[in-house]
Amino acid sequence: MDIDQLRADTPAVAQLIHFNNAGAALMPTPVIDAVTRHIQLEARLGGYEAAGQQSQEVENVYTAIARLINARTDEIAVIENATRAWDMAFYSLPLRPGDVVLTSSTEYAGNYIPYLQLKQQRGIEIRVIPNDEHGQVSLTALKALLDDQRVALISLPVIATNGGPVQPVEQVGALARAAGVLFLLDACQAVGQMPIDVQKIGCHMLTATSRKYLRGPRGMGFLYVERALCQSLEPAFLDLHAASLQSAEQFTIRTDARRFENWECNVAAKLGLGAAVHYALAQGIEPMWQRIQHLGEYLRLRLAEIRGVTPRDLGAQKSGIVTFTHDQRSAAQVQQWLAGQETRINVSISTFRSTLLDMQQRDLLEVSRASLHAYNTEAEIDTLIAALRRLPTI
Ligand SMILES: Cc1ncc(COP(=O)(O)O)c(C=O)c1O
Repeated sequence: MDIDQLRADTPAVAQLIHFNNAGAALMPTPVIDAVTRHIQLEARLGGYEAAGQQSQEVENVYTAIARLINARTDEIAVIENATRAWDMAFYSLPLRPGDVVLTSSTEYAGNYIPYLQLKQQRGIEIRVIPNDEHGQVSLTALKALLDDQRVALISLPVIATNGGPVQPVEQVGALARAAGVLFLLDACQAVGQMPIDVQKIGCHMLTATSRKYLRGPRGMGFLYVERALCQSLEPAFLDLHAASLQSAEQFTIRTDARRFENWECNVAAKLGLGAAVHYALAQGIEPMWQRIQHLGEYLRLRLAEIRGVTPRDLGAQKSGIVTFTHDQRSAAQVQQWLAGQETRINVSISTFRSTLLDMQQRDLLEVSRASLHAYNTEAEIDTLIAALRRLPTI
């Protein structure tokens, strides 16, 4: 990879060290340009007129996303964030009383809350797939759980918001297909970070966001729904983009995945997402994944050298999201200390509120999270380590 070029495309790296890519990564110049160009076009022409002029570019966003995850263009819906994309898929599923949803202990609270809501409203059951010795879902346990005919859905994140294991999603997908069970995959932290191929994984639905590892603008995300499934899922919400009114009594719903979208959207951000996908594809997802994993391993090794710091990541395969605790300082104190360095260092905090099951199992309330992208460097990691070593202890 041409790291110098990656960094040249990322203006902010001259001023700060950004290790909050799992929160929102720094946008590269082509993304910033795509967004600002469109805002300027809107200012010059009018919003609808600008969208009209860019209609082919907007279509190209779908083609690019489809290419990124090896899907078809008509299987992609562009939705304002990963959560709403996920909701649109989940709440369209015809789940009935007694139906079982299987998830992992690494599930994101934003997804777990809807399970609980449907447990309360419709009487579905939630079961958490036990973990294996590496902390990732146990495929043996999953196989056994799938013997229950009431299992209607497997739904889990590829990579949790607080890092941890990269789940064995291809094996989960194969088990789901063999059992005839739907598989909804939250690839929010995975898309842009690692290769994601919906054909290989065999998931029926997948969600992702723009602003994290894809490096797109905020307020954008997307949903993939397999073509064979799409028309049998009736979106929980409809509007005049997703459906058309045929008479005072009748409407028809679009047949493609855009039935999960709504009409009004931030066209500049959508084009920015498209630019981000093109940028990621041009860098090569596999080399980026190799580099991110390498940087993650390097940071974990260096963290382990610091007295009082405990790396917290589990998993046979780990990602670029690196978490740790400090035995004398809270995650907020660590964050504040790093932000106050001569060269500001951005890290974030992951609390039990976003991954309750996992944090409870590991008896953790919070962790510091340093999430690395391919444009980060070993030198930046060394600066972080030096700053952590200087952190005043009690
Ligand atoms: C695993 C996971 N799923 C879903 C989301 C939600 O994404 P969004 O904020 O784009 O809705 C996040 C955000 O942190 C996440 O980490």
